[in-house]
Amino acid sequence: MTTEPLFDSGLFRRVCGQFPTGVTAVTAVTAGGRLAALTVNSFTSVSLEPAKVLFCLANSSSSYPALTEAERIAIHILSRDQEDVARRFATSGLTGAERLEGVGWKPGVDGVPLLPGTPAVLVGRPDEIITSGDHAIILVTVDHVRLKPTDTPALSFYQGRFTTPATATGE
Ligand SMILES: Cc1cc2nc3c(=O)[nH]c(=O)nc-3n(C[C@H](O)[C@H](O)[C@H](O)COP(=O)(O)O)c2cc1C
Repeated sequence: MTTEPLFDSGLFRRVCGQFPTGVTAVTAVTAGGRLAALTVNSFTSVSLEPAKVLFCLANSSSSYPALTEAERIAIHILSRDQEDVARRFATSGLTGAERLEGVGWKPGVDGVPLLPGTPAVLVGRPDEIITSGDHAIILVTVDHVRLKPTDTPALSFYQGRFTTPATATGE
């Protein structure tokens, strides 16, 4: 097997896109009440004790200022029937507050927006922000969770498209 020199970020994106991920909707509130909302698939768990997770945020994201100053962050692991939320939260040209309009959110701890109908939610405070390349790695210490088991499979993202995990169809 041979590999080829990496020379273009489009190829890098396509190679990374071979890795199927889940899809999360991240919401946040700053001490001043500013809201952020965006779709994120770079989520992963980091530590069990204490409970920590992370996601990566593009420096160019319009959500960057609010998320890097956030008092509270909520990470919603989306189900297949929440693709509309994932698309809405990824729409450029909308503020966080505008993305949240019409999704029926309720305030959680410190006013962080919580989305209805989400099977799993992790809420916490930003712990550490590590800047690397054109992204920031945002580590969150989790102090509240919600788990509502459902038969609806998770929403996935693979090869640049929303999809459903293969096990969900018995394949
Ligand atoms: C499936 C999916 C996953 C995404 N994951 C991330 C991510 O992990 N980090 C990130 O900064 N943006 C991610 N985005 C992009 C943001 O959701 C959003 O579209 C982007 O920041 C553009 O918004 P803006 O114009 O307000 O900056 C993702 C978008 C989609 C559709």
